[in-house]
Amino acid sequence: SSYHTSGVAVSSKEFEQPTYESDFDWDNLGFDLKPADYMYTMKCSEGENFTHGRLSRYGNIELSPAASVLNYGQGLLEGIKALRGENGQLCLFRPEQNAVRMQIGAERLCMPAPSTEQFVDAVKEIAVANRRWIPPTGKGSLYIRPLLLGCGARLGLAPSPEYTFVIYASPVGNYFKEGVAPLNLYVEDEYHRASRGGAGCVKAITNYSPVLKAQAKAKCRGFSDVLFLDSSNKTYIEEASSSNIFIVKDNVISTPAPTGTILEGITRKSIIEIARDLGYQVDERGVRVDELDDADEVFSTGTAVGVAAVGSITYRDKRVNYNMDGQLVSQKLYSALVGIQRGAVEDKRGWIVKI
Ligand code: COI
Repeated sequence: SSYHTSGVAVSSKEFEQPTYESDFDWDNLGFDLKPADYMYTMKCSEGENFTHGRLSRYGNIELSPAASVLNYGQGLLEGIKALRGENGQLCLFRPEQNAVRMQIGAERLCMPAPSTEQFVDAVKEIAVANRRWIPPTGKGSLYIRPLLLGCGARLGLAPSPEYTFVIYASPVGNYFKEGVAPLNLYVEDEYHRASRGGAGCVKAITNYSPVLKAQAKAKCRGFSDVLFLDSSNKTYIEEASSSNIFIVKDNVISTPAPTGTILEGITRKSIIEIARDLGYQVDERGVRVDELDDADEVFSTGTAVGVAAVGSITYRDKRVNYNMDGQLVSQKLYSALVGIQRGAVEDKRGWIVKI
């Protein structure tokens, strides 16, 4: 197959021997934006369906100051990784899951959404066009960021008259500046991320800026990230600012049940399946903040974050440190996930989409 969009023709033959950009320092990737060459855009009007998208050089997009996304936050984001496997094979991890999540979010925010096929094809197109920015095996990934935005101008509060689906990408390494060192989390009990009946369970862009203040407070005290509590009781843990949370106690892994205020991460879902395969009992349930006191291990998961071990959690000025000796459950699970992603472990569930 070949892709013809806005003058960029990419033939699948060209990447039989995939190459990455040789003139780039792949050893020091963090999570800073390094825009890959091409972006993707597809538009539609209210009441219609998306039809044709196109690639163009990465650059700014033009918006009316009255665009719904700017005034009322009508927008969704996604995150997907493209990786280079051990044999050089390029692949995406479960992109159809992101497509479906975007459709659910679009329904919640009264927006039209690309079909699963359109979404996955567009993500493939972006990954292929930007393949020189997919890092060498083991050095990171190409983080692909789809957005669905209400871009039409409208003054009153109502769904936008026009929508734009945009995708851009950036090579990334570790999300946290600590690298792979264990995270020190701070339990936030004043500000909340989401409340019942809100949009906490979908990837609305408006879920993220309310986190900033709590995150800033925690960072300024030297913590890596914030752990949010449920807004009704301040009793149950929900998630960190950009990742889901898990606790381990005596071979049982528990993670907050997705009851409407928690983002259902694709890494979360995958880790639950991997853990069950490896013989762990995994419970999705309400996890009380006081359970953190005697957990054997705590870790967080996310597309951007991967699987991150938690070294300590501080709640109301009491710090609990976790034992980091020996093989951690989180390491075992992450190795299994990375093994599948790099093609070293059999992909029994069809999670890998080769590109
Ligand atoms: C991801 O993990 O892909 C996310 O969207 C989190 C984001 C805040 C970096």
